[in-house]
Amino acid sequence: MKFRLLSFLLLLCNFASAQKFHGLAQTPPMGWSSWNTFGTRINEELIKGIADYMVSSGMRDAGYQYINLDDGWSTRKRDSVTGDLVADPVKFPSGMKALADYVHSKGLKFGLYNCGGTMTCAKFPGSHGYEEQDARLYASWGVDYLKYDWCYSEGFDAQESYKKMSQALKDAGRPVVFSLCEWGTTKPWTWAKEVGHLWRISGDIGNVFDGIKQYDTWHSNGVMRIVDIAADLYPYASPGAWNDPDMMEVGNGQTEAQDKTHFSIWCMMAAPLMAGNDLTKMSDTTIRILTNKDAIAIDQDKMGWQGFRYSNVDSLQVWFKPLENDEWAVCFVNRSNKTKSVSFDWKKGKCGISRQSKSFERREN
Ligand code: GLA
Repeated sequence: MKFRLLSFLLLLCNFASAQKFHGLAQTPPMGWSSWNTFGTRINEELIKGIADYMVSSGMRDAGYQYINLDDGWSTRKRDSVTGDLVADPVKFPSGMKALADYVHSKGLKFGLYNCGGTMTCAKFPGSHGYEEQDARLYASWGVDYLKYDWCYSEGFDAQESYKKMSQALKDAGRPVVFSLCEWGTTKPWTWAKEVGHLWRISGDIGNVFDGIKQYDTWHSNGVMRIVDIAADLYPYASPGAWNDPDMMEVGNGQTEAQDKTHFSIWCMMAAPLMAGNDLTKMSDTTIRILTNKDAIAIDQDKMGWQGFRYSNVDSLQVWFKPLENDEWAVCFVNRSNKTKSVSFDWKKGKCGISRQSKSFERREN
């Protein structure tokens, strides 16, 4: 009897902690998101076109799956009778279910965006207080991925809010990858492993390679600024639980060398690979970078280790990432504008990065 009670309690504990859908995003999710290029200027034709290009450019076959609509897909107010979120009828005249069906018909998955605050960052209705209702609506539309932001959340508790939405998605019954976007403010890598599948670690990425982009009241971070934040977080990534350095800016106007560096480091960091460019207007160079099979294989390695920065001297960085079958990926990064030559002592390097060494351990939170 005692034994039965104990197993029952253990089972309850399990349910209480196992909120998210397990088994999803076992490798970093790959896809496209509307925000970096289009902001709130999104519509049905655009998204269908992006889905078409995802296929015709070879990106789907290279592993990209999700077509994610970011902020700006809904009307400014919920339905006055049902309280449901409503897809903007001008931007999405056929509705979200039809769009999700279209995306699915291409062999892709469909993602949406909302926020744990009272409004999204672009002031569309947020999910606070409507978590279950919204989760059920997403399930009925066929949503596979939800990015959940943190604007207009003054006075709310991040852990509580994200847990609530995670549980609501689980209760709605449709497997959804849950992407936390509270910009790293409450160190989600220390608590979100059972709540979501990926969590942003920083404020927004900006379309610059290094430094910041200053706006009136806030700034976005260049690619390398985000890398600086991500570099120390490698112990917290594992299959189904990823540090998210944000959607990529590859193909948005930086130089080829910068785009290659950006993509390579994202892959070394086992980052979610969300393209943020206009797929319908990509150059061949951008396609080549985004579909580089070797780099993607490093990102998607089944061991799910986030690579780490082994050294960082005079703007020259050396990154290592352990892979399956006792293999390693190495990446030499030149952060400066000048050409540099690299000399690396492989013997010395190898003994410094043995998996047993203290410098490379995965945290089991
Ligand atoms: C926040 C997020 C961005 C994007 C915008 C949308 O800034 O961090 O990634 O989703 O909101 O308004």
